[in-house]
Amino acid sequence: MAISAGSRVMITGGAGYIGAHTAKAVAEMGLVPVVYDSLSSGYREAVHWGPFFHGDIRDPLALREALTLHDVKAVIHFAGLIEVGRSVARPDLFWDHNVSGTTVLLTAMRERSVERLVFSSSAAVYGQDDVGSLAPIPEAAFKAPASPYGATKLAAEWLIEAQCRAYGLSAVALRYFNAAGADPSGLIGEAHDPETHLIPLAFNAALGGGRPLTVFGQDFGTPDGTCLRDYVHVQDLASAHLAALSVELPRGGFEAVNIGTGVGRSVLEVIEAVSRAVGRPVPYSIGDRRAGDPTSLVADPSRALALLGWSPKRSTLDLIVGDAFQWERSPRYGSGQRASRIKTSV
Ligand code: UFG
Repeated sequence: MAISAGSRVMITGGAGYIGAHTAKAVAEMGLVPVVYDSLSSGYREAVHWGPFFHGDIRDPLALREALTLHDVKAVIHFAGLIEVGRSVARPDLFWDHNVSGTTVLLTAMRERSVERLVFSSSAAVYGQDDVGSLAPIPEAAFKAPASPYGATKLAAEWLIEAQCRAYGLSAVALRYFNAAGADPSGLIGEAHDPETHLIPLAFNAALGGGRPLTVFGQDFGTPDGTCLRDYVHVQDLASAHLAALSVELPRGGFEAVNIGTGVGRSVLEVIEAVSRAVGRPVPYSIGDRRAGDPTSLVADPSRALALLGWSPKRSTLDLIVGDAFQWERSPRYGSGQRASRIKTSV
């Protein structure tokens, strides 16, 4: 479906990390991103490229109002909870936001005849166990989510697929591997509270603003013993959403597509890249494994190329880490902002 220039595209969760980068990419394509966000974890300061609507993804009235007010033609759906560890402690919350929230959105879209959806899914749907192979994972791989977070993403995919068939919606679910990096402008970047992701924590440790990094296990069956992940530059992720928005799909069509590079990098390789960027070592120690961490999560990205014509352009480890460094030394928002005034002087 071609979306004509100037059309409004709602981005739920558009004040969050990947959502804000996607809003920028949508605006650069000549479309208008309408950011719909509860600001429970997103940042108003990350919204620059279109109208903002404050609302919860589980609120049918607010969603209906936003879709109508802005005459939305398509939706890119990020809003939801993302912390894997918290999902183990509070699975009910994750099902409420990620699955019930998606149901509410789909109903509001149907009422407003909005027929195109791009859904933010995750490699967490695969949940490869820790004796699994190091081989890249194709979309058809066995699904056994290791966490309630992954289970809610898979359930939401099934829900969307069924509604595509039943009601004629067409949708693409993008299964991201490890989103990383920041927009080279320095305007937007990664800011989670609390931060649990490897690259920001490695910068915090190297820049002296945080604790030394703990490497979660060095006894995995990988070349250096640490986990392998497929790091994708957030700008490349954003461009995947645009490709997914405009790909030709039949009415009722649903596709799930991996978004990754096909290259696995170990935790120690990431630490070395951060050390190179900062020009000093990242202080770290080797700790125990973190519950639920698979040995290797690397995408087979061939379907993204075949279906969407998408391939990563900025996802080398050094470019990712270089852009993340620019953000980390001077973040515009998030809990790192105060510390940054100290960090920028180093
Ligand atoms: N790691 C450490 N120390 C840390 C933080 C992370 O060693 O302090 C390691 C992890 O064990 C893992 C790698 O660094 O091997 C990457 O960890 P992240 O927390 O940065 O990312 P994850 O791979 O755990 O999470 C990503 C996405 C999630 C998604 C998950 C699927 O961020 O949204 O993959 O498994 F659910």
